[in-house]
Amino acid sequence: TTTQVGIVGGGPAGLMLSHLLALRGIDSVVVDHRSRLDIERTVRAGILEADSVRLLTETGVSERVLSEGDQHHGIYLAFGGESHHVDFRELVGASVCLYPQTEVFIDLANAREAAGADVRFGVSDTTVHDITGTSPSIRYTDPDGTPREVRCRYLVGADGSHSMCRHQIPAQHIRQYRKEYPFAWFGILCEAPKSAPELIYSHSERGFALISQRTETMQRMYFQCDPDENVDDWSDDRIWSELRARVEPNGHELVEGPVTDKAVLRFRSNVVEPMRYGSLLLAGDAAHTVPPTGAKGLNLALADVRILADVLQKALAEGDDDVLDEYSQRALDRVWRSQHFSYWMTSMLHRLPDTDAFSLRRQVAELRSVVRSKAGSTFLAEGYTGWPST
Ligand code: DHB
Repeated sequence: TTTQVGIVGGGPAGLMLSHLLALRGIDSVVVDHRSRLDIERTVRAGILEADSVRLLTETGVSERVLSEGDQHHGIYLAFGGESHHVDFRELVGASVCLYPQTEVFIDLANAREAAGADVRFGVSDTTVHDITGTSPSIRYTDPDGTPREVRCRYLVGADGSHSMCRHQIPAQHIRQYRKEYPFAWFGILCEAPKSAPELIYSHSERGFALISQRTETMQRMYFQCDPDENVDDWSDDRIWSELRARVEPNGHELVEGPVTDKAVLRFRSNVVEPMRYGSLLLAGDAAHTVPPTGAKGLNLALADVRILADVLQKALAEGDDDVLDEYSQRALDRVWRSQHFSYWMTSMLHRLPDTDAFSLRRQVAELRSVVRSKAGSTFLAEGYTGWPST
Protein backbone atom coordinates (compact mmCIF):
# COMPACT_ATOMS: atom_id res chain seq x y z
CA THR A 1 0.00 0.00 0.00
CA THR A 2 1.10 3.58 -0.61
CA THR A 3 -0.36 6.52 1.27
CA GLN A 4 0.57 10.08 2.20
CA VAL A 5 0.70 9.65 5.98
CA GLY A 6 1.32 6.35 7.79
CA ILE A 7 0.04 6.42 11.36
CA VAL A 8 1.14 3.93 14.02
CA GLY A 9 -1.50 3.85 16.76
CA GLY A 10 -5.28 3.83 16.41
CA GLY A 11 -6.22 5.45 19.71
CA PRO A 12 -7.90 8.86 19.84
CA ALA A 13 -4.74 10.71 18.67
CA GLY A 14 -4.11 8.51 15.60
CA LEU A 15 -7.77 8.31 14.60
CA MET A 16 -8.41 12.03 15.06
CA LEU A 17 -5.32 12.83 12.98
CA SER A 18 -6.48 10.49 10.23
CA HIS A 19 -9.91 12.18 10.36
CA LEU A 20 -8.50 15.74 10.23
CA LEU A 21 -6.20 14.80 7.33
CA ALA A 22 -9.12 13.29 5.41
CA LEU A 23 -11.04 16.56 5.82
CA ARG A 24 -8.07 18.24 4.10
CA GLY A 25 -8.05 15.71 1.27
CA ILE A 26 -4.98 13.87 2.59
CA ASP A 27 -5.06 10.08 2.78
CA SER A 28 -3.58 8.00 5.56
CA VAL A 29 -3.33 4.44 6.83
CA VAL A 30 -3.63 3.66 10.56
CA VAL A 31 -2.29 0.46 12.12
CA ASP A 32 -2.64 -0.72 15.72
CA HIS A 33 -1.58 -3.97 17.37
CA ARG A 34 -4.63 -3.95 19.63
CA SER A 35 -8.06 -5.12 18.52
CA ARG A 36 -10.87 -2.58 18.43
CA LEU A 37 -12.55 -4.39 21.31
CA ASP A 38 -9.38 -4.29 23.44
CA ILE A 39 -9.17 -0.51 23.08
CA GLU A 40 -12.88 -0.08 23.81
CA ARG A 41 -12.55 -2.14 26.98
CA THR A 42 -9.57 -0.27 28.43
CA VAL A 43 -10.84 2.15 31.06
CA ARG A 44 -9.33 5.60 30.54
CA ALA A 45 -9.97 9.15 31.77
CA GLY A 46 -13.22 10.99 31.35
CA ILE A 47 -12.86 14.76 31.14
CA LEU A 48 -12.93 16.76 27.89
CA GLU A 49 -12.00 20.41 27.68
CA ALA A 50 -14.49 22.63 25.82
CA ASP A 51 -12.05 22.86 22.86
CA SER A 52 -11.86 19.06 22.65
CA VAL A 53 -15.66 18.85 22.49
CA ARG A 54 -15.63 21.57 19.81
CA LEU A 55 -13.04 19.65 17.77
CA LEU A 56 -15.25 16.53 17.82
CA THR A 57 -18.49 18.31 16.94
CA GLU A 58 -17.12 20.84 14.43
CA THR A 59 -15.42 18.10 12.43
CA GLY A 60 -18.62 16.03 12.43
CA VAL A 61 -17.34 13.09 14.44
CA SER A 62 -20.44 12.68 16.54
CA GLU A 63 -23.28 14.47 18.18
CA ARG A 64 -23.18 11.83 20.91
CA VAL A 65 -20.72 13.85 22.98
CA LEU A 66 -23.33 16.64 23.14
CA SER A 67 -26.30 14.42 23.96
CA GLU A 68 -24.56 11.93 26.27
CA GLY A 69 -21.72 14.02 27.73
CA ASP A 70 -22.35 15.75 31.05
CA GLN A 71 -21.47 19.43 31.38
CA HIS A 72 -19.48 20.08 34.56
CA HIS A 73 -19.25 23.70 35.62
CA GLY A 74 -16.65 23.14 38.30
CA ILE A 75 -15.04 20.72 40.75
CA TYR A 76 -15.05 20.26 44.52
CA LEU A 77 -11.72 20.76 46.25
CA ALA A 78 -12.10 18.96 49.57
CA PHE A 79 -9.48 19.41 52.29
CA GLY A 80 -8.99 20.37 55.92
CA GLY A 81 -12.43 19.12 56.94
CA GLU A 82 -14.39 21.10 54.35
CA SER A 83 -15.31 21.07 50.69
CA HIS A 84 -15.16 24.08 48.39
CA HIS A 85 -16.76 24.32 44.96
CA VAL A 86 -14.54 25.94 42.33
CA ASP A 87 -16.97 27.34 39.77
CA PHE A 88 -15.28 27.43 36.35
CA ARG A 89 -18.25 29.08 34.64
CA GLU A 90 -18.25 31.94 37.09
CA LEU A 91 -14.45 32.32 37.08
CA VAL A 92 -13.59 31.91 33.39
CA GLY A 93 -16.93 31.41 31.60
CA ALA A 94 -16.03 27.85 30.57
CA SER A 95 -17.02 24.29 31.48
CA VAL A 96 -15.67 20.80 30.86
CA CYS A 97 -17.53 17.75 29.65
CA LEU A 98 -17.56 14.35 31.35
CA TYR A 99 -17.44 11.93 28.42
CA PRO A 100 -15.21 8.84 28.73
CA GLN A 101 -12.20 8.52 26.43
CA THR A 102 -13.41 5.08 25.36
CA GLU A 103 -16.56 6.75 23.98
CA VAL A 104 -14.40 9.27 22.10
CA PHE A 105 -12.51 6.31 20.65
CA ILE A 106 -15.75 4.56 19.61
CA ASP A 107 -17.08 7.74 17.95
CA LEU A 108 -13.83 8.27 16.04
CA ALA A 109 -13.54 4.60 15.01
CA ASN A 110 -17.15 4.66 13.73
CA ALA A 111 -16.58 7.93 11.86
CA ARG A 112 -13.43 6.58 10.17
CA GLU A 113 -15.18 3.34 9.29
CA ALA A 114 -18.19 5.19 7.84
CA ALA A 115 -15.81 7.27 5.70
CA GLY A 116 -14.18 4.11 4.35
CA ALA A 117 -10.85 4.95 5.98
CA ASP A 118 -7.98 2.46 6.04
CA VAL A 119 -7.66 1.55 9.74
CA ARG A 120 -6.10 -1.83 10.54
CA PHE A 121 -6.55 -3.10 14.09
CA GLY A 122 -5.06 -6.28 15.53
CA VAL A 123 -1.83 -6.34 13.50
CA SER A 124 1.44 -7.65 14.95
CA ASP A 125 5.23 -7.18 14.65
CA THR A 126 4.90 -3.52 13.66
CA THR A 127 8.19 -1.83 12.69
CA VAL A 128 9.05 1.45 10.94
CA HIS A 129 11.79 1.93 8.33
CA ASP A 130 13.73 4.68 6.55
CA ILE A 131 12.44 7.28 8.99
CA THR A 132 14.94 9.91 7.85
CA GLY A 133 14.22 9.41 4.14
CA THR A 134 11.46 10.69 1.87
CA SER A 135 9.84 7.27 1.54
CA PRO A 136 9.51 5.78 5.02
CA SER A 137 7.41 2.70 5.66
CA ILE A 138 5.51 0.68 8.23
CA ARG A 139 5.86 -3.11 8.15
CA TYR A 140 3.61 -5.43 10.10
CA THR A 141 1.93 -8.82 10.02
CA ASP A 142 -1.79 -9.14 9.30
CA PRO A 143 -4.02 -11.06 11.73
CA ASP A 144 -4.00 -13.90 9.14
CA GLY A 145 -0.17 -14.04 9.17
CA THR A 146 0.54 -12.20 5.90
CA PRO A 147 3.46 -9.71 6.06
CA ARG A 148 2.48 -6.21 4.86
CA GLU A 149 4.13 -2.92 4.05
CA VAL A 150 2.72 0.62 3.97
CA ARG A 151 4.89 3.16 2.15
CA CYS A 152 4.23 6.80 2.90
CA ARG A 153 5.66 10.31 2.71
CA TYR A 154 5.39 11.01 6.45
CA LEU A 155 5.15 8.74 9.46
CA VAL A 156 3.31 9.56 12.66
CA GLY A 157 3.94 7.75 15.96
CA ALA A 158 0.70 8.00 17.93
CA ASP A 159 1.45 4.73 19.67
CA GLY A 160 1.15 5.67 23.32
CA SER A 161 3.54 6.14 26.23
CA HIS A 162 5.58 2.99 25.46
CA SER A 163 5.89 4.17 21.83
CA MET A 164 7.81 1.82 19.53
CA CYS A 165 8.23 4.77 17.13
CA ARG A 166 9.89 6.99 19.74
CA HIS A 167 12.41 4.23 20.44
CA GLN A 168 13.57 4.32 16.80
CA ILE A 169 14.95 7.84 17.21
CA PRO A 170 18.70 7.80 17.99
CA ALA A 171 19.21 9.12 21.52
CA GLN A 172 21.54 11.92 20.42
CA HIS A 173 18.78 13.50 18.30
CA ILE A 174 16.21 14.00 21.04
CA ARG A 175 16.10 15.02 24.67
CA GLN A 176 13.83 13.28 27.11
CA TYR A 177 12.67 14.97 30.27
CA ARG A 178 11.36 12.55 32.86
CA LYS A 179 9.89 12.63 36.31
CA GLU A 180 8.85 9.63 38.38
CA TYR A 181 6.37 9.89 41.23
CA PRO A 182 6.62 7.67 44.31
CA PHE A 183 2.92 6.72 44.22
CA ALA A 184 0.17 5.45 41.92
CA TRP A 185 -3.63 5.50 41.68
CA PHE A 186 -5.91 2.63 42.55
CA GLY A 187 -8.77 3.05 40.08
CA ILE A 188 -12.18 1.42 40.35
CA LEU A 189 -15.44 1.26 38.46
CA CYS A 190 -18.50 0.60 40.58
CA GLU A 191 -22.21 0.11 40.20
CA ALA A 192 -23.68 2.97 42.18
CA PRO A 193 -25.44 6.29 41.68
CA LYS A 194 -23.39 9.50 41.82
CA SER A 195 -22.05 10.60 45.17
CA ALA A 196 -21.96 14.31 44.24
CA PRO A 197 -23.13 16.44 41.30
CA GLU A 198 -19.52 17.11 40.17
CA LEU A 199 -16.04 15.60 40.69
CA ILE A 200 -14.47 15.64 44.16
CA TYR A 201 -10.69 16.10 44.48
CA SER A 202 -10.02 15.21 48.10
CA HIS A 203 -6.84 15.91 50.09
CA SER A 204 -6.37 13.77 53.18
CA GLU A 205 -3.71 12.69 55.64
CA ARG A 206 -4.20 9.18 54.26
CA GLY A 207 -3.50 10.40 50.73
CA PHE A 208 -5.46 11.73 47.76
CA ALA A 209 -8.84 10.46 46.53
CA LEU A 210 -10.81 11.42 43.41
CA ILE A 211 -14.52 10.75 43.08
CA SER A 212 -15.38 10.84 39.40
CA GLN A 213 -18.38 9.57 37.44
CA ARG A 214 -19.37 7.63 34.35
CA THR A 215 -23.18 7.32 34.12
CA GLU A 216 -26.20 7.54 36.40
CA THR A 217 -25.49 3.96 37.49
CA MET A 218 -21.68 3.54 37.09
CA GLN A 219 -19.02 5.59 38.84
CA ARG A 220 -15.24 5.94 38.57
CA MET A 221 -13.12 6.55 41.66
CA TYR A 222 -9.42 6.61 42.48
CA PHE A 223 -7.27 6.68 45.57
CA GLN A 224 -3.55 7.23 45.86
CA CYS A 225 -1.68 4.01 46.59
CA ASP A 226 1.76 2.44 46.53
CA PRO A 227 3.01 1.67 42.97
CA ASP A 228 3.47 -2.01 43.95
CA GLU A 229 -0.02 -2.36 45.39
CA ASN A 230 -1.71 -5.62 44.39
CA VAL A 231 -5.40 -5.30 43.39
CA ASP A 232 -6.11 -8.78 44.73
CA ASP A 233 -5.32 -7.59 48.24
CA TRP A 234 -8.25 -5.19 48.05
CA SER A 235 -11.75 -6.48 48.75
CA ASP A 236 -14.73 -4.21 48.07
CA ASP A 237 -15.04 -3.57 51.82
CA ARG A 238 -11.41 -2.55 52.13
CA ILE A 239 -11.68 -0.25 49.08
CA TRP A 240 -14.80 1.47 50.40
CA SER A 241 -13.43 1.98 53.88
CA GLU A 242 -10.26 3.53 52.43
CA LEU A 243 -12.25 5.84 50.14
CA ARG A 244 -14.60 6.81 52.97
CA ALA A 245 -11.69 7.54 55.30
CA ARG A 246 -10.23 9.98 52.77
CA VAL A 247 -13.40 11.73 51.62
CA GLU A 248 -15.96 11.76 54.43
CA PRO A 249 -13.91 13.86 56.90
CA ASN A 250 -14.03 16.60 54.24
CA GLY A 251 -17.82 16.62 54.24
CA HIS A 252 -18.86 14.29 51.36
CA GLU A 253 -20.91 11.11 51.75
CA LEU A 254 -20.08 8.26 49.36
CA VAL A 255 -22.74 6.09 47.79
CA GLU A 256 -21.31 2.56 47.66
CA GLY A 257 -21.93 -0.34 45.31
CA PRO A 258 -20.25 -3.46 43.83
CA VAL A 259 -16.78 -2.84 42.39
CA THR A 260 -16.63 -4.14 38.79
CA ASP A 261 -13.09 -3.16 37.76
CA LYS A 262 -9.89 -2.43 39.70
CA ALA A 263 -6.43 -1.48 38.46
CA VAL A 264 -3.27 0.23 39.67
CA LEU A 265 -2.25 3.12 37.39
CA ARG A 266 1.39 4.19 37.33
CA PHE A 267 2.33 7.85 37.38
CA ARG A 268 4.94 9.49 35.21
CA SER A 269 5.85 12.75 33.52
CA ASN A 270 7.73 12.49 30.26
CA VAL A 271 8.43 14.96 27.44
CA VAL A 272 10.41 14.39 24.24
CA GLU A 273 11.97 17.33 22.45
CA PRO A 274 11.67 17.88 19.57
CA MET A 275 8.57 15.89 18.59
CA ARG A 276 10.07 15.18 15.16
CA TYR A 277 12.98 13.24 13.71
CA GLY A 278 13.30 13.27 9.92
CA SER A 279 10.01 12.13 8.45
CA LEU A 280 8.72 10.80 11.78
CA LEU A 281 6.46 12.91 14.00
CA LEU A 282 5.29 11.93 17.49
CA ALA A 283 1.85 12.79 18.85
CA GLY A 284 -0.03 12.33 22.13
CA ASP A 285 1.37 10.02 24.80
CA ALA A 286 4.15 8.86 22.45
CA ALA A 287 5.64 12.36 22.80
CA HIS A 288 4.59 13.20 26.35
CA THR A 289 2.94 11.64 29.36
CA VAL A 290 1.31 13.64 32.14
CA PRO A 291 0.24 12.45 35.58
CA PRO A 292 -3.55 11.93 35.59
CA THR A 293 -4.46 14.60 38.16
CA GLY A 294 -6.31 17.21 36.09
CA ALA A 295 -7.17 14.85 33.21
CA LYS A 296 -4.95 16.51 30.61
CA GLY A 297 -3.69 13.46 28.65
CA LEU A 298 -6.41 13.04 26.02
CA ASN A 299 -6.94 16.79 25.67
CA LEU A 300 -3.26 17.30 25.03
CA ALA A 301 -3.21 14.55 22.41
CA LEU A 302 -6.13 16.16 20.56
CA ALA A 303 -4.40 19.56 20.71
CA ASP A 304 -1.26 17.95 19.21
CA VAL A 305 -3.00 16.44 16.21
CA ARG A 306 -4.91 19.62 15.47
CA ILE A 307 -1.56 21.36 14.97
CA LEU A 308 -0.03 18.34 13.26
CA ALA A 309 -2.77 18.17 10.62
CA ASP A 310 -2.06 21.83 9.70
CA VAL A 311 1.66 21.31 9.53
CA LEU A 312 1.46 18.07 7.50
CA GLN A 313 -0.89 19.74 5.03
CA LYS A 314 1.61 22.58 4.56
CA ALA A 315 4.58 20.22 4.22
CA LEU A 316 2.80 18.06 1.63
CA ALA A 317 1.56 21.07 -0.35
CA GLU A 318 4.92 22.85 -0.37
CA GLY A 319 7.08 19.75 -0.62
CA ASP A 320 9.16 21.23 2.17
CA ASP A 321 10.15 19.27 5.29
CA ASP A 322 11.35 22.37 7.12
CA VAL A 323 7.79 23.46 7.93
CA LEU A 324 7.55 20.31 10.11
CA ASP A 325 9.68 22.06 12.74
CA GLU A 326 6.73 24.33 13.39
CA TYR A 327 4.88 21.39 14.92
CA SER A 328 7.16 21.03 17.95
CA GLN A 329 7.44 24.76 18.40
CA ARG A 330 3.69 25.22 18.53
CA ALA A 331 2.80 22.01 20.42
CA LEU A 332 5.45 22.13 23.16
CA ASP A 333 4.14 25.38 24.59
CA ARG A 334 0.92 23.65 25.65
CA VAL A 335 2.73 20.42 26.52
CA TRP A 336 4.89 22.12 29.14
CA ARG A 337 2.04 24.19 30.54
CA SER A 338 0.03 20.97 30.90
CA GLN A 339 3.01 19.29 32.55
CA HIS A 340 3.17 22.10 35.02
CA PHE A 341 -0.58 22.09 35.66
CA SER A 342 -0.70 18.31 36.20
CA TYR A 343 2.40 18.43 38.42
CA TRP A 344 0.93 21.30 40.44
CA MET A 345 -2.42 19.56 40.98
CA THR A 346 -0.58 16.35 41.84
CA SER A 347 1.85 17.91 44.31
CA MET A 348 -0.86 19.97 46.00
CA LEU A 349 -3.14 16.98 46.62
CA HIS A 350 -0.97 13.87 47.14
CA ARG A 351 0.83 12.63 50.19
CA LEU A 352 4.53 11.96 49.68
CA PRO A 353 5.81 8.75 51.33
CA ASP A 354 7.88 10.66 53.93
CA THR A 355 5.37 13.46 54.50
CA ASP A 356 5.61 15.20 57.87
CA ALA A 357 3.07 17.35 59.70
CA PHE A 358 4.62 20.52 58.29
CA SER A 359 4.09 19.37 54.68
CA LEU A 360 0.46 18.43 55.30
CA ARG A 361 -0.31 21.81 56.84
CA ARG A 362 1.54 23.60 54.05
CA GLN A 363 -0.59 21.74 51.45
CA VAL A 364 -3.82 22.64 53.23
CA ALA A 365 -2.68 26.27 53.33
CA GLU A 366 -1.93 26.17 49.60
CA LEU A 367 -5.39 24.73 48.88
CA ARG A 368 -6.96 27.38 51.12
CA SER A 369 -5.08 30.09 49.21
CA VAL A 370 -6.36 28.69 45.93
CA VAL A 371 -10.03 28.64 46.96
CA ARG A 372 -9.98 31.93 48.86
CA SER A 373 -8.16 33.90 46.19
CA LYS A 374 -10.05 34.80 43.05
CA ALA A 375 -6.68 34.90 41.24
CA GLY A 376 -5.76 31.47 42.61
CA SER A 377 -9.00 29.75 41.70
CA THR A 378 -9.05 31.49 38.31
CA PHE A 379 -5.60 30.05 37.57
CA LEU A 380 -6.91 26.58 38.41
CA ALA A 381 -10.06 27.10 36.32
CA GLU A 382 -8.07 28.28 33.28
CA GLY A 383 -5.80 25.27 33.40
CA TYR A 384 -8.56 22.73 34.04
CA THR A 385 -10.90 23.98 31.31
CA GLY A 386 -7.98 24.38 28.89
CA TRP A 387 -6.00 27.25 27.46
CA PRO A 388 -6.92 28.73 24.06
CA SER A 389 -5.30 27.02 21.07
CA THR A 390 -2.07 28.42 19.70
C1 DHB B 1 -10.98 11.25 35.63
C2 DHB B 1 -9.61 11.07 35.63
C3 DHB B 1 -8.78 12.09 36.02
O1 DHB B 1 -7.44 11.92 36.02
C4 DHB B 1 -9.29 13.31 36.43
O2 DHB B 1 -8.44 14.30 36.83
C5 DHB B 1 -10.64 13.49 36.42
C6 DHB B 1 -11.49 12.46 36.02
C7 DHB B 1 -11.87 10.15 35.22
O3 DHB B 1 -11.38 9.08 34.86
O4 DHB B 1 -13.09 10.33 35.27
